[in-house]
Amino acid sequence: MIIYKSPDEILGMKKSNRIVGRILSELQSLCRAGTSTLELNQHAEKRSHEMGAVPAFKGYRGYPASLCTSINEEIVHGIPSARKLKNGDIISLDFGVIMDGYYGDAAVTYPVGDVTDEAQKLIEAARASFFAGIDKICPGKRISDISHAVQECVESYGFSVIRMFVGHGIGFSLHEEPQIPNFGSPGHGPKIKPGMTLAVEPMIAAGHWDAEILADHWTAVTMDRRLSSHFEHTVAVTEEGVDILSYWEEKTFQWTGDSL
Ligand code: MF3
Ligand code: CO
Repeated sequence: MIIYKSPDEILGMKKSNRIVGRILSELQSLCRAGTSTLELNQHAEKRSHEMGAVPAFKGYRGYPASLCTSINEEIVHGIPSARKLKNGDIISLDFGVIMDGYYGDAAVTYPVGDVTDEAQKLIEAARASFFAGIDKICPGKRISDISHAVQECVESYGFSVIRMFVGHGIGFSLHEEPQIPNFGSPGHGPKIKPGMTLAVEPMIAAGHWDAEILADHWTAVTMDRRLSSHFEHTVAVTEEGVDILSYWEEKTFQWTGDSL
């Protein structure tokens, strides 16, 4: 069942999501050679508490940390450790909090120092595919129109879309209906309507999309061990357009789809 949110509830979600966006933006300057992923996790926890929010991932299905730190071929759910970042790495940070009962969730991939052209292009493609996806969010469109647009964008760069994980509804829980795959044919799934709150999260690979989970039962990696990038925001569908709740600042996008 899809839970549609009132404008007041969307405002509540904006508060928790802004905290996520702010913390992810603060973490960028810490993503330099020599920083351990545990230090990144500690910063995220400390700042959440300072802002009155509770990290949402810790303990979720037994996940042992607050932040997911996925380096290079790691796609998602990398567990923070003493491992230090090196020049040329790319790191995906996925973070979520709860405040006043509302969940926030977002992710971004940062380069560490100087990275290859391919790595830079992969990061750009993940970000661009998110915007290609949310560009389809308007009345009359369906969930798989987002999926199809993400896939088309990623493949136009010569990269591939990870199949093992999907985006999702979010709000009173971290994962609500509907599921939002990042690939597939258009015109399927629930109709997009005001009040929907969605975490749109392309996870993409430089090589093949096939993935596996490491022995720690969490870290997902590309089977061919080539690079992966992740970009995620929580958005609200409103009467006016798409509101990116997990942006650090206010940003509303008007309808641009062709269905009106
Ligand atoms: N952004 C991820 C998701 O939507 C966060 C889950 S990580 C977990 O599934 F550790 F909490 F599982
Ligand atoms: Co998510």
